[in-house]
Amino acid sequence: MKVRRFAKVGGRLPGPKAAAVVAKTAKYLSPSISRFYPLVVDSAHGTLVKDVDGNQFIDFAAGIAVLSTGSTHPKVVQAIERQAEKFVHFSYTDFYYENLVELTENLVSKVPGKFQKMAYYGNSGAEAIEAAMKLTRNYTRRPLYLAHTGAFHGRTMGSLTLTASKPIQRKGSLPLVPDAVHFPFPYCYRCPWKQTFPECDYYCVDYFKEQYLEKFVPVDEIAAYFFEPIQGEGGYVVPPPEYFKKMEFLRKEGVLFVSDEIQTGVGRTGKFLGIENFGVVPDLVTIAKGIASGLPLGVMVARAEIMRSWKPGQHASTFGANPVAVEAALATLEIMKSERLMENARRLGGKAMKRLMEMKERYEIVGDVRGLGLFMGVEIVKDKRSKVRGEEEAKEIMDYCFRQGLLVIMAGRNTLRVIPPLTVSEDEMDEGLEILEEGIAATNSRVKRG
Ligand SMILES: Cc1ncc(COP(=O)(O)O)c(C=O)c1O
Repeated sequence: MKVRRFAKVGGRLPGPKAAAVVAKTAKYLSPSISRFYPLVVDSAHGTLVKDVDGNQFIDFAAGIAVLSTGSTHPKVVQAIERQAEKFVHFSYTDFYYENLVELTENLVSKVPGKFQKMAYYGNSGAEAIEAAMKLTRNYTRRPLYLAHTGAFHGRTMGSLTLTASKPIQRKGSLPLVPDAVHFPFPYCYRCPWKQTFPECDYYCVDYFKEQYLEKFVPVDEIAAYFFEPIQGEGGYVVPPPEYFKKMEFLRKEGVLFVSDEIQTGVGRTGKFLGIENFGVVPDLVTIAKGIASGLPLGVMVARAEIMRSWKPGQHASTFGANPVAVEAALATLEIMKSERLMENARRLGGKAMKRLMEMKERYEIVGDVRGLGLFMGVEIVKDKRSKVRGEEEAKEIMDYCFRQGLLVIMAGRNTLRVIPPLTVSEDEMDEGLEILEEGIAATNSRVKRG
């Protein structure tokens, strides 16, 4: 085992204590949860994670893009403690508290759009999506939703209606909420129309108009178009730069734009929201994951005019906007500003991207590298020419990284995510990328040998 500065793994994984927890988990917890590898966390600080057997890992997964300020940032911990001593719950569905208006004032000022905005709070990403689904129907009085294949918007019955990234998510739960129409996301590396960008001149948009709107989807019955500015669970897929602008023709038809920022939001792409990279101002946005540095909080922000279409009692959630989570969110926004985390995401993301691009040149199994800021994906293939998905190969690299002390996880079937906390240091990033490259090199050699 190589001696490294941050990643320190002694012996086989899982260690004895971790193996015992994994065995009990299989006995008592729902098998619907699918895990990447047997990491049993004992403690985590910043970008470093210790397991129950004393091994130390570099975190390139950030609790699935949640730990924006890293684990247990002292200011977040202080904020949680401060609030926990005052009151931990009072239900904003029936009463008021001060820190919630403070957070909302701050948050809506960061969401693009010169118009007035209002917020609704739940506890998770899926709840924010559910709220956006209800609100857009209520406001437009239209029944249909538009979403993309490859999309992930949650697994509750409503949000699952929009999700279309893996059949297993829907298996056994059909039928869902009527009525959502899915059309392909512009995944240029695997263009569904076998076109090449930019020569294609956004053929995907023409196809959508001709094959959907002209053939079977009544545009004046669409309430909202839900999209991730960069698809997350679908494989870290970045659309071409003008795509969302080209889709704006829908707005003239009264279709609301809902940008699902649950994974791309809170500075991860180097801008506060992912959609800011594409020059479109949505009517609604959904934010969760990174907003409270690990405490559960889901937010739906909408144009005030749209939000005001709801009457008292139409939507609420007992635990929504928990005051401790709200305080953690305020601390998160403060840290983002004082520690210039979006700048860090752009700078270290840019550096990492350069290094990942070099890996793409060097290794036959690296098919594509894409992303913005600290939201990056490495798509693994059997070989560059066939582009056959390297599912086993990606898993092999992920397992190698785990055994060497780096936590990377997959997105889609064969893409490795590089999503460390936004507080990651340059040295941690370099060591993590070194381990990742070792894993890629080892699998590349194995594939070459046949
Ligand atoms: C883009 C996006 N939307 C919605 C969700 C659902 O969020 P949650 O798991 O908090 O319900 C996720 C979760 O991964 C997501 O990535």
